[in-house]
Amino acid sequence: MQPKVDERRQWDRLMAMARIGAIAEDGVNRACLTELDRQARRLLIGWARDIGASISVDAAANLWLRRDGTDPTATPVVTGSHMDTQPNGGRFDGIYGVIAGLEALTALHDAGTTTRRPIEVVAWTNEEGGRFAPGCMGSMAWSGFRRIEEFAEITAPDGTRFADALAVHLAAESDLPHRPLGSEPHAYVEAHIEQGPRLEAENKDIGIVTGIQGSRWFTVTLIGDTAHAGTTPLGLRRDAVQDMVRAITALNALMHDPKDILRFTVGRIVVEPNTSNSVANRASFTIDFRHPDKEVLLARGDAIAGVVQSAVRDAGVTVAETFHALPVEFAPTVINAVERSAADQAYSAMHLPSGAFHDAQFVVPVCPTGMIFVPCRKGISHNPAEYSTPGQLAAGTNVLTQTLADLAA
Ligand code: GLV
Ligand code: MN
Ligand code: MN
Repeated sequence: MQPKVDERRQWDRLMAMARIGAIAEDGVNRACLTELDRQARRLLIGWARDIGASISVDAAANLWLRRDGTDPTATPVVTGSHMDTQPNGGRFDGIYGVIAGLEALTALHDAGTTTRRPIEVVAWTNEEGGRFAPGCMGSMAWSGFRRIEEFAEITAPDGTRFADALAVHLAAESDLPHRPLGSEPHAYVEAHIEQGPRLEAENKDIGIVTGIQGSRWFTVTLIGDTAHAGTTPLGLRRDAVQDMVRAITALNALMHDPKDILRFTVGRIVVEPNTSNSVANRASFTIDFRHPDKEVLLARGDAIAGVVQSAVRDAGVTVAETFHALPVEFAPTVINAVERSAADQAYSAMHLPSGAFHDAQFVVPVCPTGMIFVPCRKGISHNPAEYSTPGQLAAGTNVLTQTLADLAA
């Protein structure tokens, strides 16, 4: 019997997950290490237990579902993604890759298909970085790129320390068996919505992902003096907001790219005291800078601090780098397995790089890694309007299932 992905079951599971943290207009706000995150994980665990998968959790709260293979000495093939969302996120970013992994295991289980290697589905902790920045903490800690302790003092906007949120979470999951951080998979393949417009525009079912562009995140903090907006002469002010505007204007010039390959975003601004009739004594803003070329990523990223320092006139300024992920290329063994799987099932496919970062970026140094993309409507993501059809999602899972079976044979 051939393993058969159940399009309806997968869709219903995605919609059940979307109810956990649902916001207006089909959006989802399910931040990592919250009660909502725990509810979603319990739902996943229940479905995994139904097919006899074993469950475990590591010190970064990455959640692992495992289906054994026939060879107890063989290293596993791993798939998965993340279950946290952006604060104004959609129903598919991340959770699709986790549910698709479970659906693949379920299809193999239902068909009675054995594999030589175990197959594991992982739900990585805090991929988005929306509550605790940066993202990809779970996969960075697992791969040894960063130690989980290094994130301890990072605080959420409500003041919660990462270490405290993690401790509360691990206590709530203390009934689950623990496994050590880190492992040596045979291969890793992650399914995800594309989050860009190319597959839809080119009318392709499947994206065979070739690699991921590099990303660097910075936080710029400007300290001036608060003062009365009606009485303080402009020449006597140290206005943190005016210096922020100067800094961002200079950065826009640094990041100018006529080819529109470079990505530069100021996405979060915090101003204090944040009243209309006080000069701001403090302003901080984030920089999300991405480029597929390592040289450009390093050169322009390294120039950021100097450009900000020169642009600022009155305030004191610090520039802190919070995330640094170099561009990666995926492994031919995984790329070829995905390509074969799509071709065998008569899906149309194209190669493309990823503009978004993913946990897969941090798995690359550990084992052969790749990703499968499915189209999403108008390329919209990090937005409640994010949408892929049940059929598009099932096609990706069909390709994932055969890829996993092939790599685990
Ligand atoms: C992932 O969420 C990204 O911002 O690329
Ligand atoms: Mn994602
Ligand atoms: Mn995302």
